Amino acid sequence: MGHQSAPDLAVVNCRQLVTLAGPPRPRTGLEMRDLAVIPDGAMLIRDGRIQTVGQRAEIERHITAATQIVDAGGRIVLPGFVDAHTHPVFAGTRADEFEQRAEGATYAEIAARGGGIRSTVRRTRQASEAELLESARRYRQWFLRGGTTTIEAKSGYGLSLESESKILAVIRQLGAEGSLRYVPTFLGAHEVPDEYRGRIDAYCDLVIQEMLPHVARGRLAEYCDVFCEPNVFAAEKARPILRAAQSLGLGLRIHADQFTADSGALLAAELGAATADHLEATSPTGLDALKAAGVQPVLLPASVYNLGSGRYPAARHMIDLGLAVVLATDFNPGSSPTASMPLVLSLASTQMKMTPAESITAATLNAAWSLRRGHEIGSLEPGKLADFAIHDCYDYRELPYFFGRDPARAVYVAGQCVFQG
Ligand code: NIG
Ligand code: FE
Repeated sequence: MGHQSAPDLAVVNCRQLVTLAGPPRPRTGLEMRDLAVIPDGAMLIRDGRIQTVGQRAEIERHITAATQIVDAGGRIVLPGFVDAHTHPVFAGTRADEFEQRAEGATYAEIAARGGGIRSTVRRTRQASEAELLESARRYRQWFLRGGTTTIEAKSGYGLSLESESKILAVIRQLGAEGSLRYVPTFLGAHEVPDEYRGRIDAYCDLVIQEMLPHVARGRLAEYCDVFCEPNVFAAEKARPILRAAQSLGLGLRIHADQFTADSGALLAAELGAATADHLEATSPTGLDALKAAGVQPVLLPASVYNLGSGRYPAARHMIDLGLAVVLATDFNPGSSPTASMPLVLSLASTQMKMTPAESITAATLNAAWSLRRGHEIGSLEPGKLADFAIHDCYDYRELPYFFGRDPARAVYVAGQCVFQG
């Protein structure tokens, strides 16, 4: 170590240190199967960043009396999951609609009669910032428990300047509290609110002329998202919103083709969005367009599972095409009330035939690149932030294999323990 000072932290006794070390870019095709696992690995951390990664013997000689030891107990250590699509700030639940769907109602029928997103909007508008913070802090524990260390967090249950700002302020506060990292996204065009029913153009004008400039001025979000769907915001309504966001310096992520092909994927490609999310209904033509434009697909199998449609996105075809696939929870009160990335990995393997290694790549490094954070997080490599989790498994394939549990034993963000199971 020479002139360098002693490490703060040494993580030792990792049966598998799953590093994902490799070229500094998202992984595609066969690369997604290479996790760069170090058997009996260890890792040194200094000032919240990874200093050295290697085999136990290499690492042990740098340990001094001042080094704090984290003994992984022969378990696996992974980069923290990066959950690149969540809606974590809302009031109330939709357990009533869940019951209605169990009795045969569909998500679309419930939305058409004024429920769905609009019912959460009504409750979220009435909630105070303090109430929203309290519920979002509870959900934050669920993300951490699943081994997640960064989430992309969308607004979208306010749908007015005031209420969208309230939600983005809550997201900012959550991020400032440390532990889980938050990347904010403005989703003002998530639905047309009650007071604008039948006046979608007026609502789009409000988003473009008032909300977006306010969000950009206050740096309240890094990305803009739109629920692009023919009967919600059709492509011709979504396009001007997304263009305006782009011209204000926001990146784009789009709810695309959840129910209908292919307008969302084609719009994401046309605008050069960072991601196109959902893609359950996308055809091979839409996927070709994403590939040509370098858009990353974000797949949300937990929402397919919870809505019971059985219509999972074509992950294998996407990987074969060379798309840098991402997996995320879509945590929200309607279609996907789960914060568990281990559950998402299970669904990816069983329902979309992604291998455990491909799924882990999609849930860590590829997700980090989709959020412009690939240089900081998503893998365990020298110089990166020390965001990692010790999972109670002895082989990384056990993560999706033992399903229905969140196996994290300890979770660290920037070298600080933020969760212990
Ligand atoms: O990604 N489809 C739009 N938005 C969410 C659902 C939000 C809700 O139902 O509250 C989604 O599935
Ligand atoms: Fe979503």
